[in-house]
Amino acid sequence: MLQLKQIHKIFNEGTPDEKIALQRMDLHLKPGDFMTVIGSNGAGKSTLMNLISGKMIPDVGEVVIDGKDVTMAKEHKRSRLIGRVFQDPMAGTAPAMTIEENLAIAYSRTTSRGFKKGVSKTRRSFFQEKLESLHLGLENRLQAKVGFLSGGERQALSLLMATFTEPKILLLDEHTAALDPARAELITALTKEIVQSYQLTTLMVTHNMQQALDLGNRLIMMDKGQLIFQANEEQKENLTVEKLLAEFQRIRGEKMSSDKAVLI
Ligand SMILES: Nc1ncnc2c1ncn2[C@@H]1O[C@H](COP(=O)(O)OP(=O)(O)OP(=O)(O)O)[C@@H](O)[C@H]1O
Ligand SMILES: [Mg+2]
Repeated sequence: MLQLKQIHKIFNEGTPDEKIALQRMDLHLKPGDFMTVIGSNGAGKSTLMNLISGKMIPDVGEVVIDGKDVTMAKEHKRSRLIGRVFQDPMAGTAPAMTIEENLAIAYSRTTSRGFKKGVSKTRRSFFQEKLESLHLGLENRLQAKVGFLSGGERQALSLLMATFTEPKILLLDEHTAALDPARAELITALTKEIVQSYQLTTLMVTHNMQQALDLGNRLIMMDKGQLIFQANEEQKENLTVEKLLAEFQRIRGEKMSSDKAVLI
């Protein structure tokens, strides 16, 4: 479903600020795979997401989604294939627009007719039905401006907008990190439910190792632009946070004093 072949990305090449963000990385996700991604700050996790979504183009390598080579395709050209939720609750939605208008924009990605401001009765009840599945009462607030929603409500709405069009790939980049523990737990539970019900092929970045172990069927660890460790379903079941930390330390050959904080 998703194949990355030798993708390589360097920022500010040839300058003193040169940074190799991804080093010839290969990755293959089968349909329905749910992979969690961990790694310290600057490991290249968000760059990986940006290369898949088309926000950035790799210097070398290929991105193949559902058999189509999309390496050079512009972000909007592949938006129908990809749903994405960011860390910042402000990022995925239009705050000055209503819940209904935001949903209509997300929905318009699936049709070639584009976004229309008016919403038909059928469409409205479809939106309401989808909102009900979030269990937050948002189905009764269709005309509320999204800017007035709480962070957790916005992330739930972003998650819905990223998934109800049933994309081929779902990208989650620390989408629970900015929330308080109770809201983070709620969004985590919703993520699990939604990914399972649509059988979405998913990549989820998290700094929460326990979350990385609890969710999904595969796990990878990145460091300095490389994939340094991966676990399949069976191996993942036997992993613990302690084992992951020990693995990181073994591969890096360093004590975890500072990285421990960001990896957990
Ligand atoms: N647009 C950019 N211009 C220059 N350098 C960049 C850019 N985007 C990322 N980088 C650099 O590439 C490296 C990888 O960044 P990336 O954001 O992918 O890391 P990350 O694993 O997502 O980290 P974090 O856990 O902090 O979110 C970092 O050193 C970063 O400074
Ligand atoms: Mg990041």
